[in-house]
Amino acid sequence: MDIRRHSIHVFPDLAALNAAVTERWRKLAVDAVNDHGEFHVALSGGSTPRHFYEQLAAPEPAKVLPWQATHIYFGDERCVSPDHKDSNFHMASEALLRHVPIPKHQIHRIEAEIPEPAIGASRYEQQLAASLPRDNRNGKYFDLIMLGLGPDGHIASLFPDSAILAEHSKLVAAVHVDKIQAWRISLTFLAIGLARHVIILVAGENKSDIIAKVLGNRPHSETFPVEMIPSSVTPEWYLDALAAELLVDTR
Ligand code: 6PG
Repeated sequence: MDIRRHSIHVFPDLAALNAAVTERWRKLAVDAVNDHGEFHVALSGGSTPRHFYEQLAAPEPAKVLPWQATHIYFGDERCVSPDHKDSNFHMASEALLRHVPIPKHQIHRIEAEIPEPAIGASRYEQQLAASLPRDNRNGKYFDLIMLGLGPDGHIASLFPDSAILAEHSKLVAAVHVDKIQAWRISLTFLAIGLARHVIILVAGENKSDIIAKVLGNRPHSETFPVEMIPSSVTPEWYLDALAAELLVDTR
């Protein structure tokens, strides 16, 4: 992956990392609202972003963020009910969405609980088509897509060796992830390529090896999904020192 164009930010601990990403989110939100009156952002799931979402909802930053003009989407969702402990929507609601004044119709949830994941994906594709802004240069776009990173290099639910990696005609697809024996619904690389900004938020020692491979010089034969992000996007990496610890050794 050509990381010369990527911006990489490393912070000593989670508090500093989450404060920095909160400030970056604030700037992107204000810029988007000044530019076109709204801020359209897709949230990442998993465990890493929870504390960041809680920081966004804290009184200090929350009162200066343009929640009334913010549209929330999801980068992916597990095929469980929205109140299930594994649901990304549930995590984001508990940490952020229930605590800030975003109009309910501006929270665009993936209906991943329905029996047919492919239908849930198709419905989300229709939601994106109806809700995302369009410019006369590149068509529809997200102002920001938040991503996490798995130890295997997956982003959203774009796992290694999964069929969805080859999906380039749809913005959203359902995928059965053999590795975890579970169905997911996820944005595809086509959708990620619509982002004006992408933040990849990574923390913890268990991510140091994959970070050393994709951002450092640690040799690896496979191409990880995070390395397949379209070149139209310039990811901004936000790492804590633990995730970056091997990066220093291999640079
Ligand atoms: C999900 C996420 C996934 C996540 C990574 C990292 O639904 O799990 O979208 O891509 O960002 O697996 O997860 P952790 O933050 O829990 O390590």
